[in-house]
Amino acid sequence: MKVYEVAGPGTGETLMPRDRPVPKPADGHVVVRVAACGLNLVDLLMMSGRYQKATDYPFIPGQEVSGTVSDVGAGVTSLKVGDRVAARCSRGAGLAQCVETAADNCVILPDGIDLLAAAVLPVSFGTADHFLHHHGHLAKGETVLVLGAAGAVGTAALQVCRETGAEALALVSSPAKRDLALANGAADCLQIGSLDMHAEPAELSKRLKSFLGEKRPDIVVDPIGGNMSEAALRNIAVGGRHLVLGFAAGIPRIPMNLALVRRCRIIGDSFRAYCEQEPQAAHARFENLVNRIATGALRAPAPAHVFDFERSGEALQLLADRATVGRVAVRVAYDA
Ligand SMILES: NC(=O)c1ccc[n+]([C@@H]2O[C@H](COP(=O)([O-])OP(=O)(O)OC[C@H]3O[C@@H](n4cnc5c(N)ncnc54)[C@H](OP(=O)(O)O)[C@@H]3O)[C@@H](O)[C@H]2O)c1
Repeated sequence: MKVYEVAGPGTGETLMPRDRPVPKPADGHVVVRVAACGLNLVDLLMMSGRYQKATDYPFIPGQEVSGTVSDVGAGVTSLKVGDRVAARCSRGAGLAQCVETAADNCVILPDGIDLLAAAVLPVSFGTADHFLHHHGHLAKGETVLVLGAAGAVGTAALQVCRETGAEALALVSSPAKRDLALANGAADCLQIGSLDMHAEPAELSKRLKSFLGEKRPDIVVDPIGGNMSEAALRNIAVGGRHLVLGFAAGIPRIPMNLALVRRCRIIGDSFRAYCEQEPQAAHARFENLVNRIATGALRAPAPAHVFDFERSGEALQLLADRATVGRVAVRVAYDA
């Protein structure tokens, strides 16, 4: 089968096509013939060796796919050959014609969800849902500040807020990303350009405060880190929950007394580790998420940037250039 991989730390330009044997499913695992693969910032971090955990090379990017089950390992009773699924493969492997993954990482797709849209659900929506509900205990009527709101996790978080009846306030960096955030359910947006995002925390806090007015967010969804984390923490409601998802803009050093002063909780988690360590709970959540999307309770927009398999490197480069407005997916099989 054909795959796209990097031999060592690299970017979209160093991604190479390779021939690899079709994997055989281990016990409790299945093989999925990939229709489409969703791409995320984490793929770039792992490709370049900048992820929290060391990357094993050669490395095939792609942590979320959709497709059809083509082989089933011993002990799997929940899936059969031919099932249409969305699947996580959290250590990469998605940019391939076939992917081997645990059966618990797969959810059967109801008819209403097409394979291209399904390819961008597992990681971003899974993460947003897990953080906001499991850790954030999000409730109707609450106010949520979503940083990096036009990103993959950010837009999913906006949609989860909309579904729950919470008010989402979005931080974005450009007018196009503002429009995207509003389309995904943000009630209002603060626009701070990419360079200005590196201003001192006190300055960012002032801008945030004037945007928020009397409001204080009950929850902060923070996938960006950098100086914006401290600014957000300075403005959180008493008793609020600051959800630490990621560090697109760098790992911040924050005065710990802010947690005391704001009487808030700072909660970090790794969705990948959660899925690996609590596979059954993660599977139940994933199934619940897909059902909410199928019934229309939760909206999941289709990817905005779709590339053919041969252009996987360009797809990753677009992400690296921060030139995306909406999700990026690669169409691996042409009937997807
Ligand atoms: N904890 C978990 O389990 C978990 C799960 C999934 C993702 N994550 C992490 O969450 C972060 C965001 O992931 P994502 O998939 O949502 O990424 P994404 O789609 O690229 O979105 C990242 C957002 O952050 C903003 N940003 C601000 N400064 C940035 C910088 N220096 N470089 C890149 N983006 C910057 C970008 O907006 P502008 O370009 O408009 O500024 C963009 O909207 C990543 O660090 C990822 O590893 C964590």
